[in-house]
Amino acid sequence: MEYQIKVVLVFALLSFFGIFIYFSINESGSEAFRSKTEERPSELFGPSVELHNPFIITRLRNELMHLPSENGYQLSQSDHLYDPSMGQSKAILKALDYKTRGFFIECGALDGETRSNTLYMERSLNWSGILIEGDPKNFELLKKKNRRAYSFPVCLSPFPYPEILLFEQQFNIGKITDTAKSNTVQVECYPLSYILLAVNQTSIDYFSLDVEGNELKVLKNVPWDNVDIKTLSVEFVHDKEGKVAIREYMESVGYDLIDEISRDDMLANDFIFLKR
Ligand SMILES: *[C@@H]1O[C@H](CO)[C@@H](O)[C@H](O)[C@H]1NC(C)=O
Ligand SMILES: *[C@@H]1O[C@H](CO)[C@@H](O)[C@H](O)[C@H]1NC(C)=O
Repeated sequence: MEYQIKVVLVFALLSFFGIFIYFSINESGSEAFRSKTEERPSELFGPSVELHNPFIITRLRNELMHLPSENGYQLSQSDHLYDPSMGQSKAILKALDYKTRGFFIECGALDGETRSNTLYMERSLNWSGILIEGDPKNFELLKKKNRRAYSFPVCLSPFPYPEILLFEQQFNIGKITDTAKSNTVQVECYPLSYILLAVNQTSIDYFSLDVEGNELKVLKNVPWDNVDIKTLSVEFVHDKEGKVAIREYMESVGYDLIDEISRDDMLANDFIFLKR
């Protein structure tokens, strides 16, 4: 009898501690989540954010950056010479004398394959780089291609600070917007310099910029004195400021317009710039 009481007592004690531990873990877990989401808007985004706040760079690197894939490509074509670019990659490579082992940035990267300006360089010329895509649906598709590049599910900020903005999801013509609709989502946006700090890379051979209308604002937030970008392709048809403004701005920061890629089907309307 006494033995049975002891067993019951020990069992009750163990259950009590078990339940206690279970609840304390759950409590601290949900608290950590709460404080994280609460600090997002005011401290990590907006005009009052300290430039290149180290906490933001670390968070970008640890929570948003995806490392280059080490798995084989999952692409629609197995041909190694396959180049889905609409002419931009050829113009850039010509300007760079078909450089191997270069470094690119591509934004928007779409699904990482369709009309990609950087796939050929990465796959055939051993380049590495950074893919930036703000549409979460496109980013999911991009991840599946196993590109050998860093990738970020964010957009490039049209402001000199990180901001959460509305992004209209429309595959190849998605963009930042002011108006909430059924196909808009909130996306974190960062100036290019934040992404470059997260990857620790300041020497860039090619920057492909095609963001359906905010190109000039994104370019105006590039710290040209602190990064070395040798070539760019910049889409010019959707910017409200117009193509002349893009050209004049790039000339003012030290670039020559060396080519213009245009197609009647509108699948390419890009300036090609080369650093002087
Ligand atoms: C790319 O790298 C691979 C493996 O190191 C090498 O065999 C190949 O020749 C390189 N290609 C170019 C174009 O440099
Ligand atoms: C960043 O890159 C520079 C130049 O390549 C290197 O000297 C430095 O150690 C790197 N820093 C980190 C944190 O990786």
